[in-house]
Amino acid sequence: MSSFWNLWIWVLTIPVLVLCVVLLLWNLKNYVGVPEDETTDHEVDGLKELNNPLPKWWTYMFFATLIWSVFYLAAYPGLGNYKGFLGWTSSNQGIKSLEESRQAVELARAEGRHVALDVENARADEIYGPVFQQFAKRDVLDLAYDTEALKIGQRLFLQNCSLCHGSDARGQRGFPNLTDNDWLYGGTPEKIKETLLYGRKAAMPGWEAALGDQGIKEMTAYVLQLSGRAVNEQDAAAGQAKFGMCAACHGVDGRGSVAHNLPFGAPNLTNNIWLYGGSSAAIEETLRHGRYGVMPAFKDTLGEDKVHLLTAYVYRLANPEDLR
Ligand code: HEC
Ligand code: HEC
Repeated sequence: MSSFWNLWIWVLTIPVLVLCVVLLLWNLKNYVGVPEDETTDHEVDGLKELNNPLPKWWTYMFFATLIWSVFYLAAYPGLGNYKGFLGWTSSNQGIKSLEESRQAVELARAEGRHVALDVENARADEIYGPVFQQFAKRDVLDLAYDTEALKIGQRLFLQNCSLCHGSDARGQRGFPNLTDNDWLYGGTPEKIKETLLYGRKAAMPGWEAALGDQGIKEMTAYVLQLSGRAVNEQDAAAGQAKFGMCAACHGVDGRGSVAHNLPFGAPNLTNNIWLYGGSSAAIEETLRHGRYGVMPAFKDTLGEDKVHLLTAYVYRLANPEDLR
């Protein structure tokens, strides 16, 4: 808070308090001891205004609130930059990023303070840890068709994954649909688990500089044509001639990294399923500036046992039929 606003709050608060006290004392001095039923000499249509003193209970309460307010202002933060003698802070105040939050937690741990999350996690681990361990011993393909395991998997998914992939796991722009069996990194239990444990970082470079406006237009046409869309044939042919620069990741036929057993996570461009949108404007945007999707790693936050259950849940989403 700047020193102006700091001062502003003091100037508003303290004089108002003082004014209240003065007003109350002035009232008491002038009206206490005045006999009951004395009038103020005001009379309207035969109704007289009495000049009774303030009720005692009310006066005491007024004093009590005043004393409380002084204590409160001294004890807690509130008066501008003043922090209060109790040293109380609302948790995470002023923390604006995940990184700052992590640092605050690290610091609290280092200073031996209680971190509510740790306490809760420890309790939860005690209760649920053995449950997860039981499931962790079983095969993903087995769990994927086990009602109990799926229920837990779904809950974990809703808590940890749905904000990006949607509660129905159908994804949204930039976040892949997990139910369509179209994979960036592979849909085997091993590949899914790898994705969840270690996260994924996609790097689709931008080609604006390399291709120029005309080249981007041609490549966009070719990409659309790969998915069977009607385009300017000449542009598409010119794009195809340059597709070699894309083949390292998307494969020569554009069927993506998984089809060619490559680790890049480059999508299949031939199936009309789009991560970033299939309009020619969206594709042009992708080609010009690149795309850098990030799937966070869950090894540390969830641990291997929970990831094991989630792997089964995700596998089942894409494989509703039991084909074991
Ligand atoms: C912060 C957003 C975010 C969260 C949270 C998130 N994901 Fe992802 N996830 C992504 C993005 C973005 C990608 C695509 C990465 C890319 O573009 O290559 C992805 C990719 C994946 C993939 C790979 C899909 C494929 O086609 O190979 C799987 C599987 C997956 N996520 C599952 C999960 C699960 C399960 C969780 C919860 C434990 C989760 N994700 C939480 C953003 C997120
Ligand atoms: C270094 C590897 C690499 C190269 C080279 C590459 N791409 Fe990609 N491409 C990717 C990755 C990875 C993604 C996914 C980006 C993401 O998930 O954020 C992607 C995404 C795309 C998409 C978006 C697809 C969708 O579903 O929205 C298009 C279109 C595309 N690439 C076309 C091309 C074209 C055309 C070229 C050649 C000019 C090319 N890429 C070169 C790795 C590559």
